[in-house]
Amino acid sequence: MESKDRSTSGFELPTNNFINTKIQLIPCISIIDNQYSMILEKTLDVKPIPYGRQNITQEDIDAVVKSLQSDFLTQGPAIAKFENAFAEYIGVKYAVAVSNGTAALHLCTMAMNVQPGDKVITTPITFVASANCIRYCGGEVVFSDIDPNTFLLDVEIVRTLLEKHPKGTFKGIIPVDFAGAAINLETFKKLADEHDLWLIEDACHAPGGFFIDSKEKKQNCGNSAYADLAIFSFHPVKHIATGEGGMITTNNKKLYDKLCLLRTHGITRDIELLQENHGIWYHEMQELGYNYRLSDIQAALGSTQLKRADEGLKRRKEIAHRYDEAFSSYKLNIKTPKYNEGHAFHLYIIQVEDRKDLYNHLRENNIFAQVHYIPAHTMPYYKNLGYKKGDYPIAEKYYEHCLSLPMYPTLSNEEQDYVIETILNYFTK
Ligand SMILES: Cc1ncc(COP(=O)(O)O)c(C=O)c1O
Repeated sequence: MESKDRSTSGFELPTNNFINTKIQLIPCISIIDNQYSMILEKTLDVKPIPYGRQNITQEDIDAVVKSLQSDFLTQGPAIAKFENAFAEYIGVKYAVAVSNGTAALHLCTMAMNVQPGDKVITTPITFVASANCIRYCGGEVVFSDIDPNTFLLDVEIVRTLLEKHPKGTFKGIIPVDFAGAAINLETFKKLADEHDLWLIEDACHAPGGFFIDSKEKKQNCGNSAYADLAIFSFHPVKHIATGEGGMITTNNKKLYDKLCLLRTHGITRDIELLQENHGIWYHEMQELGYNYRLSDIQAALGSTQLKRADEGLKRRKEIAHRYDEAFSSYKLNIKTPKYNEGHAFHLYIIQVEDRKDLYNHLRENNIFAQVHYIPAHTMPYYKNLGYKKGDYPIAEKYYEHCLSLPMYPTLSNEEQDYVIETILNYFTK
């Protein structure tokens, strides 16, 4: 695209009132999901703006300090307190705190008894962990393309896939509330029941999100009304941050008990379950589990973070509306996201023709936008398993144009105006 051609209308640009003091030698941390990459040390004109970041208050710090001064750094009372509060927030019976969202997914695939060779369906537009959890159990990942309007796993494409194979070919589906858009799990549940499949909802992007079902009932992401299990992540870019951390939610007591067992080495002390009993110290390892526990320090932080979850969500919505307004005021070649009321705005993703050029322009201006996601099936690991470019054309087309703009509760209006102005400048330069 010609650079002069980027705008479809001429307009006056606002002047840049944003921080223009020189900040020397600032370590700039760009967050790529799950990694802190690139510590740059250079002269910066503006404070770097990441695409996402945590919001830590004095209340959080006090809670962590109190936890450090308590008798329990792990396996103490802060865990159940956080789990109970989280279950109440989501509106679900049981919550199991774990060390991260990936561990949550792994325990879920174990709890659903995924065996080597079992075929499980998921979306290519997600963080790779949504697919990798199938591989941890030796299962086969079967990607299915996304809906071009919502960018979520397309239920009709999944139906076609299922109908092409004899019943029993697939074991389950892992739909993802990508970007914070609550996927309609009622439709997936109907389909899953027709084919005897289980559902694990990857709700990492959507605590506080919801969809309205056919009975006009609000269904919170992760409430397990339609899915067997749901999982969340508390990575710093997510709505609730505990450094590393995750949660599994379910209404199923049997699955809950199994998850609790698997979270801690498969060891139980429950007298009812023990095969022998040598005394009060006695415990048994009954299954091959893991140490996927969350610490009390993290759970204490999670509890105070959770108290402000709605406040954070409100701010995310405000930021989304400000972007919408700014970009709709001009006829720009930007597609803004379409969303409904229950969107949780983990990400605000625009679609532009020359994504790389805009990405570089933002970066030159110290705005660290991000790309969510490189389609999982095009990753070398999945290519080695037989997937190739061209397999999921809707996902691949989406990937070519998507760009996630800064979106986090502590993003100030001034900072957001700078992001908007930098984008408007790009389209008119
Ligand atoms: C959709 C999705 N699923 C799973 C995960 C994994 O969570 P964690 O980073 O806590 O292991 C993430 C985190 O980036 C995610 O975005």
